[in-house]
Amino acid sequence: MTVPASGPLPPDIAAALNAAVSRIVAFRVDLRWYASVTSTMDVASEAAHLGGPEGLTIVADEQTRGRGRRGRVWSSPPGAGLYVSFVLRPPLESLESPVLPLLTLAAGVAVRDALTEATGLAPVLKWPNDVMIGRRKLAGILAEGIAIGTPAQAVVLGIGINLAPAAHPPEIADRATSIEVAVGEPPDRSRLLEELLVAVAEAYDRLRRGSADDILRAWRAAAPSADGTEVEWDGADGLRVGVTAGVDDDGALRVVTAQGLERITAGEVRWR
Ligand code: BTN
Repeated sequence: MTVPASGPLPPDIAAALNAAVSRIVAFRVDLRWYASVTSTMDVASEAAHLGGPEGLTIVADEQTRGRGRRGRVWSSPPGAGLYVSFVLRPPLESLESPVLPLLTLAAGVAVRDALTEATGLAPVLKWPNDVMIGRRKLAGILAEGIAIGTPAQAVVLGIGINLAPAAHPPEIADRATSIEVAVGEPPDRSRLLEELLVAVAEAYDRLRRGSADDILRAWRAAAPSADGTEVEWDGADGLRVGVTAGVDDDGALRVVTAQGLERITAGEVRWR
């Protein structure tokens, strides 16, 4: 296993890093830039296996095999999106640790805050961690546990933000959007990356210091559809429907169905 050699930082990426480091206390950001990778998750997880430090941040201009949750493809053409993975080393006893769902909720809040700071947009969060403008997805978050239970244990937190319409295939234009479309002009990638680095580090620091309440409060405020919205999902025995009834302290979505209250801990729901 080897970690591919990174390239020199483009000037706007270097500017984002310089501006962010003085604002970050949670960890030392070690940002590596790649013109093209299979997936920033692959590079970050290889680095984590090899003992890469917390705060190692992999950023790429293009991913040839970008991946989303549930085995989906995350379309990642050059220059059209921000593709970032962080190596984090939170204390986890197992993959079932409550820290993991809270980390993804914290990341959702961080992405939303960064987008608001850098672009003025106010996206909403959709459980578990889609970042939405109206009914269209603007950004996604993927957390993968690495070598849990071994000394190399880590979590790789991946974030993809659509900068321009080319980021997503035209056939999902009714379900996806980009900053360029939502704001009406191309975003300042450097400013967005700076705010993303700062917001992720801040949210992670809060989680590490045990402020799960703060994270849940912020997440609930940013996710109005987690309470009182009709949703459907694919259950073991077919399509299920219900009305959301909030997120519990472990990050599970509560849904009232005809059969009673359900607690959804994994997967996703669709708005009806
Ligand atoms: C999702 O909503 O399904 C999660 C999407 C996560 C995409 C990001 S882009 C950076 C990192 N590298 C990947 O291959 N995936 C994540």
